[in-house]
Amino acid sequence: MAEEVLHITGGKPLHGEVTVQGAKNSALPLMAATILCDGVTTLENVPRLTDVCAACRILNRVGCTAKLHEHTVTADGSDVHSAEIPDSDMRKMRSSIMFLGPLLGRMGACTLTMPGGCELGPRPIDLHLDAMRRMGTQISEENGRIVCRASVLSGAHIPLSYPSVGVTENVLMAAVCAKGETILTGAAREPEIVDLAAFLNCCGAKIQGAGESVIRIQGVKTLHGCHYRVMPDRIAAMTWLCAGASAGGTICVHDARPSELEACLAALEMTGCRIGRCSERIFLDAGAVLKPIRYLRTLPYPAFPTDAQAILMAVLCRAKGTSLLEETIFESRYKHVGELLRMGAEIRVSGKTAVIYGGTPLYSSEVEAMDLRGGAALAVAALQSEGTTTIRGLQHLDRGYENFAEAFHSLGADAKRVSFS
Ligand code: EPZ
Repeated sequence: MAEEVLHITGGKPLHGEVTVQGAKNSALPLMAATILCDGVTTLENVPRLTDVCAACRILNRVGCTAKLHEHTVTADGSDVHSAEIPDSDMRKMRSSIMFLGPLLGRMGACTLTMPGGCELGPRPIDLHLDAMRRMGTQISEENGRIVCRASVLSGAHIPLSYPSVGVTENVLMAAVCAKGETILTGAAREPEIVDLAAFLNCCGAKIQGAGESVIRIQGVKTLHGCHYRVMPDRIAAMTWLCAGASAGGTICVHDARPSELEACLAALEMTGCRIGRCSERIFLDAGAVLKPIRYLRTLPYPAFPTDAQAILMAVLCRAKGTSLLEETIFESRYKHVGELLRMGAEIRVSGKTAVIYGGTPLYSSEVEAMDLRGGAALAVAALQSEGTTTIRGLQHLDRGYENFAEAFHSLGADAKRVSFS
């Protein structure tokens, strides 16, 4: 199949609006959680992404029959009969570790392989395994596969040394049908955790405190299916807002929750952009000239999210002056810098810190996406240069953005996805 590339011709302000897709990082754990439900679950507002298709494949392999039709996933967990995730599926989606909790909760077992290093550096799962051990899981390594067995999953006190999103999600899913109470301290507070807990409670679980650092889960016997709508994707919303800031102009983002983006909106306001907030809508009016951000670091929610670091860096290439970003969550999340340099950006990286000497005009170039949010950053940066920038590696964008080119087009950008012969 011929490779597809994105052609973006920038150099003019944006005026337009876009509706945000359902959240990838909520849809994926919600789909995994359907394994716990003894019945049919319907998930609305599911984004059409390659990671969602990969999750569907894994669900069907374990016997939770799942179908994706338009933006709806229907999953029937009444006949889950396998606890093994094939290596090929593990490799297709780095975050397949999120099937560990539900398979242990439903089947008392789970066999998987290491999710493997990916574009963000190693993806260790030590905190996942430690939490499962505390609930009574025996874990062994057999020919490169991790075999987890728990004849009975018991509620436990699980103190997290780091507020890991994935570990918090796995503990919620393992604990909802465990024997007794689980108290999770040091939990991640991301909105996706709140969405997962709301879904599980809708299925009959007893979870209190999601969104805070201490979460209590009372084990129940079984969960039934339910009908649930996935929350909007806050990182996609931030991506579209950064496109407006990078190009200049005025845009409106629909189905976006300002309350879940406060640190992101504050960062954009630091650059001089004016932000208007309604309950499910955000307006951005980019200043004629953007101001640099002296220092900003990525931290767990509610602080500035690591997923928005690359995208904000692209905006800061336009800000006149020196900005400094520190990436504290992932080890190597600066792969987009090399590609931004090819567009004429002036950026220096030293360890976790990136210094952006903004204000020099970017020029059109041929660049390659190295990971999901880094690819989005290249597209945001391309809006600043008058020529046509070609972006390759769209398989990364397709993991997290549904119809990226169409979204840019609806904002008023000249963006086309074409076959590259
Ligand atoms: C989730 O990943 C998101 N993915 C990531 O989004 C996001 O960047 C991340 O949370 C942080 O917000 C999904 O929700 C599918 P973590 P997750 O566990 O759960 C270390 C995107 O672009 N760690 O909070 O994997 C880990 O190495 C993706 O949409 C351990 O050391 O993130 C990292 O440094 C990228 N041991 C840090 O914690 C463990 O057992 C944060 O990881 C687990 C994690």
